[in-house]
Amino acid sequence: MDSNNKIRIFDTTLRDGEQSPGMSMNLKEKIELAKQLERMGVDVIEAGFANSSPGDFQSVKAIADTMKDCAVASLARAGAADIDRAWEAVKGAADPRIHLFIATSDLHMEYKLKMSKDEVLKTAVEMTKRAAGYCPNIQFSAEDATRSDMGFLAKVVKAVIKAGATTINLPDTVGYTTPDEHEAFFAELHRRVPELGNVIASSHCHNDLGLAVANSLAAVRGGARQVECTVNGIGERAGNAALEEIIMALYVRKNLYGIETNVDNTEIMRSSSMLTRITGVKVQPNKAIVGDNAFAHEAGIHQHGVLAKAETYEIMTPASVGLKESNLVLGKHSGKHAFRDRLKDLGYALSDEELAEAFKRFKELADRKKRVYDKDIEALVAKDAMQVPETFTLDKYVINSGNTITSTATVALVKDGKTTETVASGSGPIYASFKAIDKIVGRHLELEDFQIKAITEGEDALGDARVVLKGLEGRTFSGRGLSTDIIESSIKAYINAVNKLYYQEKEA
Ligand code: KIV
Ligand code: ZN
Repeated sequence: MDSNNKIRIFDTTLRDGEQSPGMSMNLKEKIELAKQLERMGVDVIEAGFANSSPGDFQSVKAIADTMKDCAVASLARAGAADIDRAWEAVKGAADPRIHLFIATSDLHMEYKLKMSKDEVLKTAVEMTKRAAGYCPNIQFSAEDATRSDMGFLAKVVKAVIKAGATTINLPDTVGYTTPDEHEAFFAELHRRVPELGNVIASSHCHNDLGLAVANSLAAVRGGARQVECTVNGIGERAGNAALEEIIMALYVRKNLYGIETNVDNTEIMRSSSMLTRITGVKVQPNKAIVGDNAFAHEAGIHQHGVLAKAETYEIMTPASVGLKESNLVLGKHSGKHAFRDRLKDLGYALSDEELAEAFKRFKELADRKKRVYDKDIEALVAKDAMQVPETFTLDKYVINSGNTITSTATVALVKDGKTTETVASGSGPIYASFKAIDKIVGRHLELEDFQIKAITEGEDALGDARVVLKGLEGRTFSGRGLSTDIIESSIKAYINAVNKLYYQEKEA
């Protein structure tokens, strides 16, 4: 068994996470999130499944070409075409990894693969050899490992290690196992295949029974030295093991696990909010570590205790996950230097051009809002970093609304230098504005979700609107708009989602 006390964090937010409904991201968003994952210190980024579509290939390749410090993996079925394509996509990476998989449970082999055990074993070995011919960093996954026959699984694991696999991933594909069972499973496989101690055993848990994190930690006790997880726990069905929960469990209970990771805890909050911003999907308020209420103490007795000594009701500090107090930073008289320095402190490095653009928006905001907080600034630049080409821009809008009339919205948008203005009515000013935009764009767009919230407290708080639109093949596009006027932020969010949809269609 691996006695090393370091766990590698394999992040699959961009693959297992992205393939779940409502989580699709465009190329720019994927690159931006990958940069943040690298900044946070994950060891491996699974950037996608290169042979699943040209778009996926392009994003895996772009991420592989961009990352400097972490390994970049592409998923591949155990077939020549997938493996060759995966290699094409990751070969530019500083540390490329091919991640091939084949199912090993009777159920999957008989009904899904329609292959015998011997055929699966032969394919696994041949394809591992093929992948190992390309690079030394090869991960083999035995899909549905936890429901596989242990004797057969051990045979496959032994054979693929001999064929060149350097990481052996044992997924609980359907979220079926329990912590005690999972620890024993990893320990038993180490007993049956001593060679497993010379490579890295990896866990990949799904959350169907709400046990993904507990099972991942149990796998670590059983000898796993890589844990696969996603930011905010996104992923197929009930999701994957949540990265932030695993990291903080290992950090807070270091006395119990004695395990280290390369992840910087204080980047957790930023990664979580970035993903929320990109997808428009918020975590539930009581979500461990990153939910809005995770560090909120409501009960008087708790508040009293925390004020007297934080540790009475807090097992970790908000700062340890990167949660900062909303602090007053800049105002309308602040200059570009102060703005850039503040951005640096917040961990953003913008190009001169991006900085100039963000500073312009900061000035506009500071004119409308007396106090500009860190959260406002982060919201401004996060938008910058993931900007897609603006097919449509807002020229102006006029709203006529009240509780005794039907709302009307006059909206003017600019496309290719030409301004088009139209009027629409609806049950409220926001609905009327969205209908007017649909008219100009010339298609009816299905609104999947709409949310608005204040970024900071106060009467002049910045309204943060998110719009999720449904495009072709059920893909969703989330747009974001910021303004001190909530109608303007809603209109901007809608236009941003439309622009992403156009960008995606152009990419496709
Ligand atoms: O859940 C699973 O089995 C997977 C594999 C493809 C690694 O995601
Ligand atoms: Zn999975």
